Amino acid sequence: MSKRTPLIAGNWKMNKTATEGVELVQAIAAAVGIESAVQIVLCPPFTALSAVSAAVEGTHLAVGAQNMHDKVNGAFTGEVSAVMLRNLHVTHVILGHSERRSIFGEDDAFINRKVLAALEASLKPILCVGELLAEREAGTTKDVVRRQLELGLQGVPANKADQVIIAYEPVWAIGTGKTATPAMAQEVHAFIRQLLTAQFGAESAGRMRILYGGSMKPDNADALLAEHDIDGGLIGGAALDAKGFVALVQSAAKSLAA
Ligand code: PGA
Repeated sequence: MSKRTPLIAGNWKMNKTATEGVELVQAIAAAVGIESAVQIVLCPPFTALSAVSAAVEGTHLAVGAQNMHDKVNGAFTGEVSAVMLRNLHVTHVILGHSERRSIFGEDDAFINRKVLAALEASLKPILCVGELLAEREAGTTKDVVRRQLELGLQGVPANKADQVIIAYEPVWAIGTGKTATPAMAQEVHAFIRQLLTAQFGAESAGRMRILYGGSMKPDNADALLAEHDIDGGLIGGAALDAKGFVALVQSAAKSLAA
């Protein structure tokens, strides 16, 4: 692990009511105490954001949303904007998750507009990229990642680059129990850092966090987080239970000491 502050983000997806979310936050906060070497971001569904934001007050846990629209307001039934999220003390937002891309048809141009809108509102985007199984088997992983990254980050000013967090999530590893091996993940992470260097310069790229996502669990986290360019995790299933999630935070803290 490098000198970058590791980040463990929980993507709760469409799970947890506001009440259940607060219970989970309280259990996580009690277990991690004042562990501040690792940045922790919890991303509940929209309906739990307000309650979770209130529950993290006084802890060092931060709150993220799972999506947003790129416009500030207007006739977009069912959507929420960056300004609305900021108003709830949300600091991060997951954008371009593969479920948004595949189930809800979001394309790179739309995701790019959201990234720019998030930065404009001082929200830190967690931009997700990753290949499908067929793309990996066809040997096009790097082409896919390059396209999603370059189009997703188009127009991001260099002085805001280190506000952006990238999550590499091979789609075939999400929720399947299959994980990329640490070497497979590191290869793509190093490639992503090369692309970031080309766009933003070595200094900014060296500061940017690149998270791994896709069935990261307590039993495989140590090996993944030990890789040089893996700066944390975007956690789905294992983020729904305090014990498992806290174990991942501890793995990230351990990787710093290594
Ligand atoms: P998973 O999900 O940890 O359940 O594989 C990760 C994600 O979709 O962000």
